[in-house]
Amino acid sequence: MAFWLVKSEPGAWSWDDQVRDGVTSWTGVRNHQAALNLKTMKVGEKAFFYHSVDQKKIVGVVEVVKEAYPDATDPSGRFVTVDLKAVAPVPEPVSLAQIKADPRLAGRRRALADHLRPGGHRPVKRPRPESLGEIPGAPPAGTVLCRVSDLAAQGARALQFRDGELRYDIFIQRWRDEIHAYRDSCPHLKLPLDYRGGQYLDALGRYLRCAHHGALFRVEDGYCVEGPCKGRWLTPIRLRVDGDNILAG
Ligand code: FES
Repeated sequence: MAFWLVKSEPGAWSWDDQVRDGVTSWTGVRNHQAALNLKTMKVGEKAFFYHSVDQKKIVGVVEVVKEAYPDATDPSGRFVTVDLKAVAPVPEPVSLAQIKADPRLAGRRRALADHLRPGGHRPVKRPRPESLGEIPGAPPAGTVLCRVSDLAAQGARALQFRDGELRYDIFIQRWRDEIHAYRDSCPHLKLPLDYRGGQYLDALGRYLRCAHHGALFRVEDGYCVEGPCKGRWLTPIRLRVDGDNILAG
């Protein structure tokens, strides 16, 4: 009977999430070697549950309760998932450094089930992007909202649209080589994320940050990784970038 290691980004899916849900489908694996390992897993086999990114440690044990079947989150139909059940936390978390240093673990068969892709494992579906053309008071699709060159390298632009008493706020964020736009409304208390004049990124420029209670959102998909609305999403706004123009989608 094999013993496995599955890893997860704790901001996207943590041991606490696994315990809360009990059994979960380990979707989102897009690495071919890991997918091969998933196909080999048998009901009753156990796996260490490993927190990746900055934690790098084993925190619990899960058990395979359903063998490989098609991963519904894979539009290509090539990848599989298994169902894993939380068994127990480990008495003491075991760090990656400890694992590497322990000769008893050398040569053990491990499945590094890569689980870092947005939308892969999380039980909450990513919200559908809103089209400004459907929002009262907002410009129709194809309208130029601003220009890429208007935005500093990590800069943002807040826009407000009004229809009588109704107000609709969005912000457009330039980040790395990408442009993202979200409704300026934190899922926690529905407040605008920023009240300090166009600053949405955190100090390190890695996450969008709500200035009210510090919730952190991934820039690339608006997923909240930390804070009172952890696990929820900003509402994305459909955009189109054409040369230097950023247009309503
Ligand atoms: S309103 Fe955004 S974290 Fe509370």
